Amino acid sequence: MYYGTLPGSVLSLMSRLQPWHAATFFLNQPLNLRHKKSAAILTAGGKGNQANANHHLSAFFRMVNAEGFLDHTACSPNTDTIPAQEDEQAIAAVIEIANWLNNG
Ligand SMILES: Cc1cc2nc3c(=O)[nH]c(=O)nc-3n(C[C@H](O)[C@H](O)[C@H](O)COP(=O)(O)O)c2cc1C
Repeated sequence: MYYGTLPGSVLSLMSRLQPWHAATFFLNQPLNLRHKKSAAILTAGGKGNQANANHHLSAFFRMVNAEGFLDHTACSPNTDTIPAQEDEQAIAAVIEIANWLNNG
């Protein structure tokens, strides 16, 4: 989480895929992307607003035909005081994501 949403580097990656959106809505040539699973791992220093990240991730994952991240998000929300690698709740959530991606 940077400035209350996803870091610029992640938003840049998403932006590079905007032609897929344009193919559907401007060129009327949808790409028929294969259905996929999506998950998210978030870290925040302590004031993070996950709602903003979810908003951006929802738009992006919908565009690439990926579902599930709202039920499969791991968040370590206080890295200023608890390093993510010591955040047992976040680690358990990451393990759940791995199991879901591999088996579910
Ligand atoms: C430019 C910048 C902006 C940040 N903005 C927020 C923020 O809005 N809310 C928050 O909770 N943490 C914020 N943080 C703290 C990061 O979310 C936290 O340090 C996180 O662990 C960073 O993960 P990373 O090491 O993968 O970049 C910010 C950090 C940076 C460098």
